[in-house]
Amino acid sequence: MIFKSIGITSDHAGKDLKKVVFEFLQGSQINVEDLGVPYESSDSVNYPEFASKLAQKISSSELEAGIAICGTGIGMCITANKFPNVRATSIWNEYSAKMSREHNDSNCICIGSRTLSDSEAIQLIKIWCDTAFLGGRHQDRLDLINRIETNNFK
Ligand code: RB5
Repeated sequence: MIFKSIGITSDHAGKDLKKVVFEFLQGSQINVEDLGVPYESSDSVNYPEFASKLAQKISSSELEAGIAICGTGIGMCITANKFPNVRATSIWNEYSAKMSREHNDSNCICIGSRTLSDSEAIQLIKIWCDTAFLGGRHQDRLDLINRIETNNFK
């Protein structure tokens, strides 16, 4: 496992899968913090609020990485990427999970509870957690992203 501390979050659409992910991570001896909608809640909530709580902690290095779950993963991803130093990636299959680490040094994955089964989601999380960033030319590209971030988020 690459990460030692992982936060997880979800909106109402992702809360059942969040529970599955939480139990998986606890079994993997990672420090896991649940920042999402309570499992018992039946409220419809706004995903930007929950994505922000997680992304803020990654941005400030309070957490090393995060997993954000909504219906598609898309809204969580858009929101999380508004925070400095967060590289949130939408992943949907084994290849995208692997590439998000090797090429993009993803520190937050965003997955869809309505697009993946529980077992598919866990398999993608395993790949993401076990894959190292390749650095080299990929670091050069991340440096370019950082420059864009610095210039545009003032
Ligand atoms: C909620 O219905 C849905 O819009 C949300 O979970 C997410 O998929 C947004 O991107």
